[in-house]
Amino acid sequence: MDVIQHILEIRNKISDLKAKNFRIGFVPTMGALHEGHLSLVRKAKEECNIVVVSIFVNPIQFNKPEDLKNYPRTIDNDLLMLEKENCDLVFTPSEAEMYPKTETLSFDFGALDKVMEGAFRPGHFIGVAIVVKKLFEIIQQDKAYFGEKDFQQLQIIKELVRQLNIPVEIIGCPIIREKDGLAMSSRNALLDPKMRILAPEIYKSLQNAALMERSCTPQILKEIVINEINATGLRVEYFEISNPQTLLPISDWKAITDAIGCIAVQAGKVRLIDNIKL
Ligand code: PAJ
Repeated sequence: MDVIQHILEIRNKISDLKAKNFRIGFVPTMGALHEGHLSLVRKAKEECNIVVVSIFVNPIQFNKPEDLKNYPRTIDNDLLMLEKENCDLVFTPSEAEMYPKTETLSFDFGALDKVMEGAFRPGHFIGVAIVVKKLFEIIQQDKAYFGEKDFQQLQIIKELVRQLNIPVEIIGCPIIREKDGLAMSSRNALLDPKMRILAPEIYKSLQNAALMERSCTPQILKEIVINEINATGLRVEYFEISNPQTLLPISDWKAITDAIGCIAVQAGKVRLIDNIKL
């Protein structure tokens, strides 16, 4: 496994591999890797000849400086995990090389980046889109793998690729959970013990919502989930029941066959997100 820091070096390496007609699979990450990330690497391994993982804590997607400062950084362990998965290349660029000048690039994603995470984390998705565009241009992958854990992010990346005609196939991969149902996240390591015990209530409540099989209106279902989770001592920031394509909230089940319930919860100082198909 080669670990490469410089853009020019990885470009050269990739163009050699592409000249040999290897199919390149790419998994962008911010490190602090867990089984969720590794599931993307495994899927990429199945489908491609060469798997590239990037590890870059992207400063411009953090809307709170303390969140950036506290973001877990575990590079040595990350590299060990990737080595075990037979990952081929790891790209660990510096901030200076990724952002030689202050970024002014912007995008219009319509409603996609205005709702849910977009509403609560202003500028977050523009920061994600900028870094992913840059990474895609560097890695020149055939396929790129993203988790459904960040459902809104996945839809925005698909839209980015569509708008810019980037030649890459975006593959969405299912959410990997802890045994108690908590969606794996790099931020789980930051939960204090009391919040770690409460956090699985999020998925329990989402599962209950799915079991109710549309027996009440989306509005009432929203209230049930929010009240259930708030009663545990966690604090729901939003729970929206939305059209999975447009991400716009739905008020009537009849309008669509698939709906997605997306939630953000404050667990002490840590913000967690999750979602479920409804
Ligand atoms: P990060 O949070 O490190 O996540 C990297 C990828 O792993 C994302 O596609 C995310 O959805 C996926 N992932 C995280 N937890 C998962 C889980 N429990 N199950 C399945 N997939 C999971 O998302 C980012 O980084 C950044 O925004 C990035 C796209 C790298 C741009 O900076």
